[in-house]
Amino acid sequence: MAQVFICRPISAVAEEILKKAGIEIKQNSQNKILSKPELRQAVKGMDGVLALLTDKIDAEVLEAAGSQLKIVANYAVGFDNIDIKAAQKQGVIVTNTPDVLTEAVAEHSLALMMAVARKVVESDKFLRAGQWDKWEPQGFLGPQLTGKTLGVVGLGRIGSMLAKIACRGLGMKVLYYDVAKNSQFERQFKAKFRTLAQLLQQSDVVSLHVPLLPATKHLIGAKELKMMKKSAILINTARGSVVDEEALVKVLEKKEIRGAGLDVFEQEPKVPHQLVKLANVVLTPHIASATHEAREAMAKIAADNLVAVLSGKKPLNPVY
Ligand code: GLV
Ligand code: GLV
Repeated sequence: MAQVFICRPISAVAEEILKKAGIEIKQNSQNKILSKPELRQAVKGMDGVLALLTDKIDAEVLEAAGSQLKIVANYAVGFDNIDIKAAQKQGVIVTNTPDVLTEAVAEHSLALMMAVARKVVESDKFLRAGQWDKWEPQGFLGPQLTGKTLGVVGLGRIGSMLAKIACRGLGMKVLYYDVAKNSQFERQFKAKFRTLAQLLQQSDVVSLHVPLLPATKHLIGAKELKMMKKSAILINTARGSVVDEEALVKVLEKKEIRGAGLDVFEQEPKVPHQLVKLANVVLTPHIASATHEAREAMAKIAADNLVAVLSGKKPLNPVY
């Protein structure tokens, strides 16, 4: 009987699917991130692992599992927590959960855009603090988004979905930067390809949708942040390290850009204390995919991939 280790509790649908397929489940039933030694111990002898983005699956963990390990099904679309080279070398299949969280993450990016532009969090705090004594003709002013320019960095599923919502819903002009041009997308949304520098110079909102790779680490650093308009907003729902956080704090403190909406951070769950003090940022704890729909579907897809591979079939969502 094949055995699967589930690294932390997720929707019960995963367990149901695995059980139905006759797979034996071991799991960390506490909602606690396993330490590296605990993880190494827990995966020993497993045929499959259902990992979360908080589980670092490196060469040592893969090796500790043993040569019978066939698949690591990541409960995330991003898989920077897994050493892909080591997995490949050991012949372990890695799968992710694309598509099902596209809408959720695009919607959250939009929520952050609007929250920063319209000072939703700052004004909510003001009201709760009992500071609201009269209607203000000049208070809490922010930019209207309709008609403004959205710069999408990384035109994958999520970036394209956000562009679609912003273009169709808000009449925003769309610029994009990616390693490849997409002429169909350009036609559909009157979008224009730009170099990263041009996009940063011309956008009112810059939203990041690239995976974290060696080539995208600190893609947005001090130099890039300086290229942005003083009135621009930066949104990051991708991975914290796509942005040089220290450099971002500096430009936000000096108000060299209008603000930022951040769902991801370089050292999660640590958030720089300087960021927490700033009024021109909206910060959420890596919740962009946290809709009932997306999280349920992510659990299902991770389990479906485990069942497929452990019954000798091809994975549904291999990452390589
Ligand atoms: C969440 O961050 C994911 O990659 O799914
Ligand atoms: C991830 O799902 C992406 O392609 O944006």
